[in-house]
Amino acid sequence: MSETSVLCDIGFVGAGVMGKNLILNLADHGYRVAAFDLDHKKLEAVIAQDKAERGDQPARVISCSSYTELLSRLSAPHLVILSVPAGKPVDDVCLKLIDAGIQADDIIVDTGNSLWTDTVRREKHYEGKFIFFSTAVSGGEVGARFGPSLMPSGDPYAWTRIEPIWRAIAAKVDPTTGRPLERHEPGNPVIEGEPCATYIGPGGSGHYVKMVHNGIEYADMQLICEVYQVMRDALGMSAEQISKVFKEWNQGILNSYLMEISAEVLATKDSETGLPLVDVILDKAGQKGTGLWTAVSSLELGCPAPTISEAVFARSMSTLKDQRVLASTLLSGPVREHCTNQSAEQMIKQLHDALYCAKICVYAQGFDLMKTAAAEHGWQLNFAEIAKIWRAGCIIRAVFLQSITEAYERNDDLQNLLLDPFFSKQISVNQMNWRRAVAEAAMTGIPVSALSSALSYYDSYRTAVLPANLLQGQRDYFGAHTFERTDKAKGKTFHVDWSHTDRTMQKIK
Ligand code: 6PG
Repeated sequence: MSETSVLCDIGFVGAGVMGKNLILNLADHGYRVAAFDLDHKKLEAVIAQDKAERGDQPARVISCSSYTELLSRLSAPHLVILSVPAGKPVDDVCLKLIDAGIQADDIIVDTGNSLWTDTVRREKHYEGKFIFFSTAVSGGEVGARFGPSLMPSGDPYAWTRIEPIWRAIAAKVDPTTGRPLERHEPGNPVIEGEPCATYIGPGGSGHYVKMVHNGIEYADMQLICEVYQVMRDALGMSAEQISKVFKEWNQGILNSYLMEISAEVLATKDSETGLPLVDVILDKAGQKGTGLWTAVSSLELGCPAPTISEAVFARSMSTLKDQRVLASTLLSGPVREHCTNQSAEQMIKQLHDALYCAKICVYAQGFDLMKTAAAEHGWQLNFAEIAKIWRAGCIIRAVFLQSITEAYERNDDLQNLLLDPFFSKQISVNQMNWRRAVAEAAMTGIPVSALSSALSYYDSYRTAVLPANLLQGQRDYFGAHTFERTDKAKGKTFHVDWSHTDRTMQKIK
């Protein structure tokens, strides 16, 4: 049989950065892939890369020039993976595949950063035409190539077909230490260890979980950036000095991919000017929307995730560059000399502890949001499993995820991560430095919106009586919105006739 007449295991649409790397990852694990992209140059690049990497082996990837050819090159029932931009392109490709003759028992898997409600809609919409399955992917380019974290959801039958493939190509974790097992060698993938791929639940839930992953990612990045700014602006440290501190922190409880890459970014010199690269990067942050979706979802569900929202706002604030430059000449801050009366060493230690405590709060917010969404949508999310698949491959991978895994293994019904004995103790012993760091930043006039919002979240969560009693009074005053009383049965509501001088209370049933 000629090489081209052998049917492929997987069809793949989209050979951009993520697509190309996922295709090569699949090929490394022995899957033959038929690939299609509207941009033929991208396909050529994948074929060339496969050729360069496979040595004397037969081609593992073949390129197709149409959707019809793609389907004809696959063994039935067909499995087609999409790596196309989220939104309209996903539906466009699905429609093209319907035209090309995809069948009811064929599976299309969307691996983009799709909005989870689109996934729910698509699953229903394409019912009877093919099985629409979703798998959210985290890990960027390198993750896609050598082991991403995968969050699949949808039809359980489709999952039985996809599971062995996803478990093969996913990132792996050492089951005893919870640490990633990494090897970035084409043709020599990691096959041992626990794969970072677990079935999340019904359609949409995987993309929801990935959305929250990204919300946490936004907040985690912002926290690191705030610590960097305090070191730079209050302590006058250079990018190189801050990089050294981050590298050191990365050896301990703050060990994470984001800490590691932040240290590397800070250590990099600009080839043109010789300056630290970070000093010539414009301070205007971009965003593609997943952090915003997380913040919107938390607002809609009434589930507080303020640090994630703050991280989104911080990106928006960063884009107001011209206004900020003008305001910096017009608006005054505190007088510097009465601010910092501590040693740099003390402040660095405070920032370390602040970052750790705030990070715990960010994860508490993210997991609480998933719990609330699960209750709302009837999903049975397994939080220990979710924490497990975030231990390697994804952008928020961190040593810390092992502790979260253990917290949910101790109690799968944990109301909030802050109530887990390990985490409550961690905050209890580190909180004073967190408070000092936030106070010091405020006194110095350095914005630390995420670090301080996490602190307020923690303080609000542990406060038995919040001022919402007065707020309810205000609402009743102007809008007769009623209130409950602390000394009466739950659910019974009351209203005061505020216009009367004696303000008689009326009970409302
Ligand atoms: C990942 C990343 C990835 C991407 C995000 C963030 O998990 O691999 O989250 O999905 O980097 O879309 O992008 P923005 O910062 O541009 O929103």
